[in-house]
Amino acid sequence: MKRLHFNLITLACVTLFGCENPDGIADDAQTRDYSTIFTPLPSKTIYPSNNPYSETKERLGELLFWDPILSGDKNTSCASCHHPDFGWADGRILSIGSDGIGLGPQRYGFQVTSIHAPTIMNVAFTGIKNNESDSSFVSGGYF
Ligand code: HEC
Repeated sequence: MKRLHFNLITLACVTLFGCENPDGIADDAQTRDYSTIFTPLPSKTIYPSNNPYSETKERLGELLFWDPILSGDKNTSCASCHHPDFGWADGRILSIGSDGIGLGPQRYGFQVTSIHAPTIMNVAFTGIKNNESDSSFVSGGYF
């Protein structure tokens, strides 16, 4: 009877948590070792050499990000779809355009787009490349 209990518990563990190898990594066909392809992100943002950082630019960028005045109807800012409260996205399946009112999943309007706003978290690192000569990173820039 004790052995049956043990086997049932083992079966439940394997069913619920999958098999694990001694490193605690699931040992099934759905895992791959990407550690040779991906490396941790650098600890600091890398700025393009032809567009270096300045506090003034940071402040201007922040103001523009939150300012609806640049949109056609002067009612939509970047934060309408990339809001920090929703993981720098809008928490919706499909984003709503310039007639949108409100924020996040409660945002409503008729101009429902056919696409989903992705998070913009970490986009500062988009396109960075390993600088193979000294194993640091260089900016590949956006676009
Ligand atoms: C109406 C909603 C909406 C507004 C407003 C908006 N975005 Fe987006 N954003 C999106 C959608 C949807 C995508 C995905 C586009 C695609 O995949 O073609 C996106 C994509 C992006 C991306 C690319 C993210 C990635 O990982 O590739 C960046 C960066 C971005 N937006 C920044 C901004 C900035 C900066 C502003 C303001 C100037 C802004 N967005 C305003 C909806 C919006």
